[in-house]
Amino acid sequence: MQSEAAVSKFDIEVDGRLVPAEPGQTIAAALIGAGIMVFRHTPAGAARGIFCGMGVCFDCLVTVDGLAEQRACMTLVQRGMRVQTRSAEGD
Ligand code: FES
Repeated sequence: MQSEAAVSKFDIEVDGRLVPAEPGQTIAAALIGAGIMVFRHTPAGAARGIFCGMGVCFDCLVTVDGLAEQRACMTLVQRGMRVQTRSAEGD
């Protein structure tokens, strides 16, 4: 018999790959847990990821279910969610 915690976990799709996530977790936490540290690049090519972790700096912007420029540090994972890092989009 599986534990309740094991049953509640699910995967989200990030740049076409499955990333494990848990209810109540932010997208940023799921990405970092999967070893994804770069969420976007600046126009000059500098890598950006989590910086403030509280919705202030906008370094963690990703596309969520087709909606651009969502803050990964402030957005909770949902079953069936599809996330694109802006690095994957070519930004
Ligand atoms: S890490 Fe600063 S807004 Fe998300």
